[in-house]
Amino acid sequence: MQRLNNKIAIIAGGATGIGAACATRFVRDGAKVVIGDINIEAAQALADSLGNTGNTAKAVYYDAADADSIKNLIDTTADTFGAIHILHNNAGLMSPKVMDADSTVVDIALDLWNTVLAVNVTSFLLGSKFAIPHIIKAGGGSIINTSSDSGLAGDLARTAYGASKAMVISLTQHIAVQYGLQGIRCNAITPGVIMSEQARVNSQDLVRAIKSHILTPDFGEPADIAALAAFLASDESAYITGQAIACDGGHLAHQPQVADVRRSQTTPG
Ligand SMILES: NC(=O)c1ccc[n+]([C@@H]2O[C@H](COP(=O)([O-])OP(=O)(O)OC[C@H]3O[C@@H](n4cnc5c(N)ncnc54)[C@H](O)[C@@H]3O)[C@@H](O)[C@H]2O)c1
Repeated sequence: MQRLNNKIAIIAGGATGIGAACATRFVRDGAKVVIGDINIEAAQALADSLGNTGNTAKAVYYDAADADSIKNLIDTTADTFGAIHILHNNAGLMSPKVMDADSTVVDIALDLWNTVLAVNVTSFLLGSKFAIPHIIKAGGGSIINTSSDSGLAGDLARTAYGASKAMVISLTQHIAVQYGLQGIRCNAITPGVIMSEQARVNSQDLVRAIKSHILTPDFGEPADIAALAAFLASDESAYITGQAIACDGGHLAHQPQVADVRRSQTTPG
């Protein structure tokens, strides 16, 4: 018996990177998975490759910035598979173009702020809003929201990204409180640097700077998030809800001076 047998899951933003790893893992663990993404070519290719394993995956075009498109993703899943048990809200604007323009409070353009919040957090609200009645009808289930350790501390730039990811944690708690008695658990994952293809093309200076602040020898991979997401999706985590769970190599788990002390210990003189 696989732990996601008989479960119907949606990965919203599942075509590449962390979302693709989660879709792959959920299918491997027995779920039927709908991969929603604006990058429909990559979503379709992934669904085809997972379908070829004899398991079930379906790609659906969805634009996280468009409420009707989000509703269509949810309704198509319910119509196709008859139920929804798991929603993983994962879409995020990660391109260098957006990340580089996402600057300081004084300099950020209002349009950019609104775009980042629409995709990174409003889409999570809407996906949950439309999916929750289906999940309750199915007897309960699990909502997983991809936040970030950027939502847990301030930074020199990427104001909209950090604020959006902090909002995801609060949204997670509100869902957990409001629908817990109806059998819905909701948890956020706060990844640190995870070596998705997108992260590899983002600012390598920033990635290098973070390296001395993690406690593990290497950065995480999308499969590390997928392992946690599969646990949170399954009944094995039945008593865990309303939490923001870090998967970040201990990035925020240490005294701020640890990297400086380590450097001084390895620097002669
Ligand atoms: N990689 C990291 O280091 C890291 C760290 C913390 C949090 N995260 C979060 O993890 C999630 C996945 O990031 P990733 O690194 O795998 O990057 P990614 O770019 O591979 O994944 C983002 C996915 O969202 C989709 N997407 C973007 N805009 C969309 C839209 N308007 N409508 C529908 N889909 C859309 C993309 O096509 C892609 O499939 C994001 O929410 C990101 O903020 C990533």
